Amino acid sequence: MKGVILAGGLGTRLYPLTHVTNKHLLPIFDKPMIFYPIDTLVKAGIRDILIVTSGPHVGDFLGVLRNGKELGVEHLEYAYQEKPDGGIADALLLAEDFADGGPVCMILGDNTTDADIGGDVKTFQDGGLVFLKKVTDPKRFGVAVFDESRERIIRIDEKPENPASNFAVTGLYVYDNKVFGYAKSLKPSERGQLEITDVNNCYINENNLKWVELKGFWSDAGTFRSLYSANKFWAEKQGE
Ligand code: G1P
Repeated sequence: MKGVILAGGLGTRLYPLTHVTNKHLLPIFDKPMIFYPIDTLVKAGIRDILIVTSGPHVGDFLGVLRNGKELGVEHLEYAYQEKPDGGIADALLLAEDFADGGPVCMILGDNTTDADIGGDVKTFQDGGLVFLKKVTDPKRFGVAVFDESRERIIRIDEKPENPASNFAVTGLYVYDNKVFGYAKSLKPSERGQLEITDVNNCYINENNLKWVELKGFWSDAGTFRSLYSANKFWAEKQGE
């Protein structure tokens, strides 16, 4: 399986830090943020990775990551997203050639986790797979809406005012190649983006979205508070 890391956007919620560099190169404890999702993929056996980036600091990635060999990556590619605020599904579309007809495991570059997704990646067959995590502030995320058995997701709501559950859709996903057709069929949301939640809802409509609960720590780092809590977790984990 190939891996895609989305590391674009303007990081406006982290101004003035993101005037300095791209959000995904800011430190989380002792490493640039993007090292964590790269490590998650490499540990899952994914060594062929595309980084999609955008914004004013794109050149910084090459200096930090070079060819990725030091991080265990065998093949590292970069793609440039013209519209930094085009949305996650828009960025994913840039991975179509790279995917070459096969499935992809995608991670948002500001998501860090100590969970091992290797088993889920190895057993993946087709459709879509999302990793859920119980959170105390579901309004900030895509939120899973379950059927009565609580086994099947019937819908995902993006940043809902009244969340139907406290299961957030994390920024880790595995998709078969149909994902590119679904992403192309989308219309921009109210915030003007092609939403990954709409892609997931396409899979749900085809009865082809599976989910697992992500074990261990997970956090995004797109706000000062979440950046701080990710730093705190990784600093304490290193101290263990
Ligand atoms: C994005 C997705 C959301 C998901 C979150 C995970 O949110 O749109 O569904 O729960 O990543 O980090 P955003 O980064 O746009 O706030």
